[in-house]
Amino acid sequence: MGNDDRILFTPKQIGNVTIKNRFVRSATFENAANKDGSIGEEYIKIYERLSKGEVGLIITGMIHTSEDGKSYHRQAGLHSDEMIAGFSAMNEMVHKNGSKIIAQLCHGGRQSMILGLRPPAPSAGMLDLTFRVIPRPMKNQEILSAIKTLVAGAKRAQKAGFDGVQIHAAHGYLVNEFLSPYFNRRSDEWGGTPEKRFNFLKRVYEAMREAVGSSYPITAKMNIEDHTPKPGLTIEESAGHIKSLVDLGIDAVEITCGTVSFSLFKQCRGNVPVKALAKAMIKPIQPFTEITLKIAWPDKNYTFYENYNLDACDKIKPLMGDIPLILVGGLRNYESMEKIIREQKADFISLCRPFIRQPMIVKNWNSGDIKQITCNNCNNCFGYVPLDESVRCNLNRTF
Ligand SMILES: Cc1cc2nc3c(=O)[nH]c(=O)nc-3n(C[C@H](O)[C@H](O)[C@H](O)COP(=O)(O)O)c2cc1C
Repeated sequence: MGNDDRILFTPKQIGNVTIKNRFVRSATFENAANKDGSIGEEYIKIYERLSKGEVGLIITGMIHTSEDGKSYHRQAGLHSDEMIAGFSAMNEMVHKNGSKIIAQLCHGGRQSMILGLRPPAPSAGMLDLTFRVIPRPMKNQEILSAIKTLVAGAKRAQKAGFDGVQIHAAHGYLVNEFLSPYFNRRSDEWGGTPEKRFNFLKRVYEAMREAVGSSYPITAKMNIEDHTPKPGLTIEESAGHIKSLVDLGIDAVEITCGTVSFSLFKQCRGNVPVKALAKAMIKPIQPFTEITLKIAWPDKNYTFYENYNLDACDKIKPLMGDIPLILVGGLRNYESMEKIIREQKADFISLCRPFIRQPMIVKNWNSGDIKQITCNNCNNCFGYVPLDESVRCNLNRTF
């Protein structure tokens, strides 16, 4: 199984940080922080396992930087200085184990959990059935303040010893909403043309760069396709934004697709776990919820196939120059990962669900034990989010 080829274990830089191999743990929301956003043993254990498992670069699950941009009850936060100490201790441990770690910073936008209230978004929207909110358009002042909170979060991440940050500009959260013609219907300086829709991310990036200095890695996770009910971001427009980020000085870009509210199972192809998701409802309405979810999200629309975002690399990689491209989405086969790196389709292999199930798999591969990835894309790991339990794999463990 290509064990003699060590290309996946060659180091590569992101900015001035050397990553010891080509494996990235894609941001995976843990649902394991305390309700005030601080982190404890349950959260840190996840990162201990991943770093002992020799993952080169670990990207945390989405971390909120302000209460109004918080999306889940047990989401970690970098919204105040009190949060820094917990992350510092964790990062020290991760570094001792030889991994690098980046904080994914996120403002939830219309996918924030302000129950029954009106979360801030670029434009107004109908009732969002996933987050049970009705988005309201942000005032100019609120937009500027959202930028400030993301920047303050980056500064705290730097103080906490993270090796860099990732701006979460994908999956239907605030930055993606500004980029997307589906979510952003403004006609002021923040919307109306692709350039104006890019303005929010541009301003976030520029202010962050100013705050953290020229050598601190800032990366972004970008949608190449929103998969919204009406046209959203597509690869043509997204490619333009990625090129602009490269020109601004971004240190790496990870490409993905889909939004949580409208296309979660395009983002994570595979089974739609209707039973697991319905469990969050009171017992009598669980069967009804299962039927509704089955109708809303028919399995056949989300059939899993390997490397489902790979085609986008042909368009995106040539725009990147020397800046690394990180690919995520259904990467499951070791030989195919080698091929992606060897053929320079992407520079890093990013995995999410496989590491929930097999956090030690990179260590196995490094020692010559080429185990198969056994994640079967059942997506039951999502079912723990509405239950407020930490995200885990409910199949039999294989490590
Ligand atoms: C349980 C779960 C939590 C996730 N949390 C995040 C997150 O916090 N931030 C993010 O950008 N993507 C998140 N994702 C998406 C993954 O990072 C990744 O893009 C997607 O799962 C496809 O990769 P995979 O096929 O290797 O799982 C999550 C996915 C899952 C299954």
